[in-house]
This record gives sequence, C-alpha cells and structure tokens, in this order.
Amino acid sequence: MKKLLLSLMLLSTICIANDYQPQAGTSGGQIFNDACMACHGDNGTGKFGLFFDLTSSTLQAEETKVIIQQGGLAMPAFPNIKGKELDALLAYVISLRPVLATKQ
Ligand code: HEC
Repeated sequence: MKKLLLSLMLLSTICIANDYQPQAGTSGGQIFNDACMACHGDNGTGKFGLFFDLTSSTLQAEETKVIIQQGGLAMPAFPNIKGKELDALLAYVISLRPVLATKQ
C-alpha cells in the first residue's frame, strides 16, 4: 500500500511544474520547509529512502539550480523560485551536505 501511494504520488508529479512561489526575502530554510520537505525530509535526508536523499548529492551548484527550476524525472519543477530566493534555497540545500559544506 505504501508503495502504491508512493508510485501514485511520483506519477502525479511527472512533468508537472509546482506553482509554489516564495515571498521576496524568504529564507532558504523556510523555502525548503514549504516546498521541499514533503519529499526530501526536514534535513534533506529523504522521507522515502535514498532516492530523495539530498545530503549525499554530488551535483554542482549550477546543476542543482537547474534541477530546482526544471525538475527531474519525478521531481517537480519550481519555475517560480528564482533570483535571491533561489540563491538562498541553493545555499541551504548545499549546507545540508555534511562533507561538501565543510569543504567550502
Ligand atoms: C514531489 C516530491 C518532491 C518535491 C516536492 C521536491 N523534490 Fe527534489 N527530488 C524528488 C525526486 C523523486 C528526486 C530524484 C530525481 C528525479 O526525480 O529525477 C529529486 C531530486 C532532487 C535533487 C537532485 C539530487 C541529486 O543529487 O540528484 C535536488 C537538488 C532536489 N531534488 C532539490 C529539491 C528542492 C530544493 C526542492 C524544493 C524546492 C525539492 N527538491 C522538492 C522529489 C521531490
């Protein structure tokens, strides 16, 4: 049952853009809580297992930006997160990675 629900949820997000739009000046952490936590968990370790884990991501900042704006296979696109808010979110997402965060 859990698997079925998960597949339905994934299917429903394919190629769908999420219309979430943060208010100007919203912090990266807040945007993450609002828009990403449902799938990626409250600290980016993923709600449903490794597939959603962001802490072990090896993507460069630019690639991560593209994923957020354009989405992935099952990841919805967030075209309305941009500018300062996108930068804040990006910094937050990268700060969730234990190894890379200490290297920077
Ligand atoms: C509906 C569930 C869902 C939501 C909401 C969601 N994601 Fe994702 N995300 C995924 C899935 C599933 C993947 C796996 C890759 C794919 O779908 O192509 C993913 C992959 C990613 C990746 C790529 C990680 C890697 O190393 O490959 C990043 C970065 C990411 N998400 C960031 C975010 C951010 C930031 C938000 C909030 C703005 C967010 N996601 C919201 C489901 C979601």
